[in-house]
Amino acid sequence: MISQDMAALIGAQINREFYSAYFYLALSARAETMNLKGTAAWFMAKHGEELTHALKMYRYLIDQNAAVVLTGVAAPETGTDGVLRIFERTLEHERAVTSAINTILDHALSEKDHATAIFLQWFVTEQIEEEATVNDIIGRLRLFGDQGYGLLMIDNELAALAKQVGTTTGAAP
Ligand SMILES: [Fe+2]
Ligand SMILES: [Fe+2]
Repeated sequence: MISQDMAALIGAQINREFYSAYFYLALSARAETMNLKGTAAWFMAKHGEELTHALKMYRYLIDQNAAVVLTGVAAPETGTDGVLRIFERTLEHERAVTSAINTILDHALSEKDHATAIFLQWFVTEQIEEEATVNDIIGRLRLFGDQGYGLLMIDNELAALAKQVGTTTGAAP
C-alpha cells in the first residue's frame, strides 16, 4: 500500500506519459507530411514506448491497491517547425519529464517509501537513455544539416533506430 499523496503523484505522471505518447504521435504525423518516413517511424516507436511507460505506472498503482484516476490528456502542439526544432522541442519535453520523475522520487524518499523509490529507478535510468538519444540526433542534425542529403541520411538512420526501439520495448514501430 502506498500513501494517497504518492498515488496522486504517480497518477499525474501517468497523464504526462500519455501526453508524451500523444505528443509523439502528433510529431509522427507531422513528419509524415514532410515525407520523412524514418522520422515518422521513430516518433511512432516513441509513441508506443510512452504508452508502455503509462501502463507500467498504471499496473504499479493496481498492484499497490491504489486508486487509478485518469484525467484528460491535453492536445499536443506540433507547430510548423523544421526537423531540428522538432528534436529540440523533444529534448525540452524529455527534460521536463525527467524533472517530474525526480520530483516524484524525492517525495518517495521523503516518505521512506522504498517500494516506490525502487519502482521509479527504472524511469530515472530510462530518462538518461532517452535524453542521450535525442541529444545525439540533435548533434547529427547540427553537423550534417536538417535539409537535403544530410536530412535524408539522418531520416534513414532514424528508420533503423525505430526498429530497435520496437524490438527493445515490444511496442509496435
Ligand atoms: Fe516516458
Ligand atoms: Fe520519454
